[in-house]
Amino acid sequence: MPKSSTIAIDGPAASGKTTVGQRLARKLGYRFVDTGAMYRALTWEAVRLGLDLEDEIALTRLARSTDINIERVKNGRVTVNGRDVTAELRSDAVDLGVSLVSKVVGVRKVLVRKQQTLARGGDIVMAGRDIGTNVLPDADLKIYLDVSVEEQARRRYNELIENGETADYRTILNGLTRRDNIDSNRSANPLKPAEDAIHIDTDKLKADGVVAEILTLVGES
Ligand code: CDP
Repeated sequence: MPKSSTIAIDGPAASGKTTVGQRLARKLGYRFVDTGAMYRALTWEAVRLGLDLEDEIALTRLARSTDINIERVKNGRVTVNGRDVTAELRSDAVDLGVSLVSKVVGVRKVLVRKQQTLARGGDIVMAGRDIGTNVLPDADLKIYLDVSVEEQARRRYNELIENGETADYRTILNGLTRRDNIDSNRSANPLKPAEDAIHIDTDKLKADGVVAEILTLVGES
């Protein structure tokens, strides 16, 4: 089987896309791009500037004029106009606003183009919501990670507790459900599996188990 050099991983919030994508990319010696971090970075900038998150024109203008960089050297660092915002991408303000910013057609056009440019040259794992359907419709391998809403909330809850933060399971569950609803029901590139995506149910599988399944599909194990 020829090696898959572009791998798309899509799925709802807390389905494990980032962890799985990072580990998979490391095993294969590929680059990893977390497209969610780009939408989060733009949202962070919009919140910092106090923009109305319903103002599509202002958000589109901001997307066009903001330099979002997912640094390749220091794995996973994200900068906005040169400022390192990595630590702030998962703040409550960004969590609340990101689905509103991401549903703006003009914003998506700008970020999708950046993502397609990043993917040129292959040997890449890209994670998001619309990678298999829209960003890389010709990806060599498309994975869709399924997860139940209870497991999503449990994962986020544990993440927060492990980081020494306070967490309330109900609030987390409601927030994730709201975000997935907006992401799935927007008109521009909604969250949905590509027709040719291979589904992996992650509820009972740890990240390494998911990576192992994908490596089997790639023909690397
Ligand atoms: O890490 P988590 O799964 O919670 O979310 P994320 O991947 O960081 O994505 C944050 C948000 O960005 C999502 O809820 C979507 O609104 C948006 N997003 C998108 O619209 N398209 C993508 N390709 C990736 C993320």
